[in-house]
Amino acid sequence: MTQMATYDRYPVTLVRGKGVRVQDDAGRWYLDMAGGIAAVPIGHAHPRWVAAVTEQAGTLVHVSNLFRTGPQERLAERLVALAGFGEVFLSNSGAEANEAALKIVRKWGRARGKSRVVTLAGSFHGRTFATLAATGRPEKQAPFLPLVEGFSHVPPGDFQALQQAVDRTVAAVMLEPVLGEGGVIPLHPAYLAEARALCDRHDALLVLDEVQTGVGRTGTWFAFQGTQAVRPDVVTLAKGLGGGLPIGATIASPEAAFGAGEHASTFGGGPVPCAGALAVLDVIEEEGLLDNAMTQGKRLRAELREALPEGTFREVRGRGLLVGIELAGRLRSRDVVLALLERGVLSTEAGPSVVRLSPPLSISEEEVAEAIDALAGAVARVAEEGTG
Ligand SMILES: Cc1ncc(COP(=O)(O)O)c(C=O)c1O
Repeated sequence: MTQMATYDRYPVTLVRGKGVRVQDDAGRWYLDMAGGIAAVPIGHAHPRWVAAVTEQAGTLVHVSNLFRTGPQERLAERLVALAGFGEVFLSNSGAEANEAALKIVRKWGRARGKSRVVTLAGSFHGRTFATLAATGRPEKQAPFLPLVEGFSHVPPGDFQALQQAVDRTVAAVMLEPVLGEGGVIPLHPAYLAEARALCDRHDALLVLDEVQTGVGRTGTWFAFQGTQAVRPDVVTLAKGLGGGLPIGATIASPEAAFGAGEHASTFGGGPVPCAGALAVLDVIEEEGLLDNAMTQGKRLRAELREALPEGTFREVRGRGLLVGIELAGRLRSRDVVLALLERGVLSTEAGPSVVRLSPPLSISEEEVAEAIDALAGAVARVAEEGTG
């Protein structure tokens, strides 16, 4: 074995992508309902994105962040305009974007004599030390103890637990508007509003991790602007932003933002990923992909509820094109993902009993119908094998 065994990989080697399809090394094409786990919002090899990235690669790939570049400045302006608040720090991944958010919280809390952060049980915020401590998954933390101190976790959606956890000693509440890795669990808008009110009452920052939900995934640029409307103090992005290239963004209100010398990254906000991100934002805007995410997401959820065999699922849920199918009984998400793969559809697991769909936002009605057919067949087969 030449690589560390970090990933429990599916038995397919992918070589090419075009739109909502990817091809394996034997020449077979698949419908990509995984979308790189919500990281390919405009589809694979969109000509506009390819042109922007190759043009930038042939012009300027890297200079130190001690110098200005046009793509970075333009992207920062766009992100602030889309978020409607704040200042941006650009990095290379979701974990880095959240790590920066947690440093911002530390600094802000330090001035007030506090550092506690409340996050959710079952949440996922990354694999670096601070983001691992924020992540509410003891099994992911266990091998790496001791953790960064000061994090506590409350069950998602439990108002009372949140009210009890947040007091004057808390510097921040950090939430995913839809818990992604935790099983595609959307937080109720009233719960987010309560988190905002508690942060206001106790002089704490509300941090939203939109690494998975941002960049149009839920049908608005940020989930906090849609059905889950709430005003954050800090919001993070990654995944979909680069259209497949590594980039992360931390947007913070000016009162909380980093000052000179307080944070840095060699590659963060490089000209190529920023050019890619600008193309992603342009394509989403010009091709009406926010509306498409909303429409196709609704269709996907509604038609799945009709098409999946009775008794095989507990719930189909999500926002926009972040969709989770919670399987019933002893059905395992990995078995369904593998059965789907055989039927020519990529998907991912969000825990042992939830199949996650996070396709490109450009998916068509016909492609949605194809995915539903494949899912109904795959779930039926896994259910049959389980009882056979
Ligand atoms: C909500 C959320 N935050 C953070 C991360 C970490 O992002 P990355 O893998 O880019 O470090 C993920 C990745 O799945 C995520 O879903």
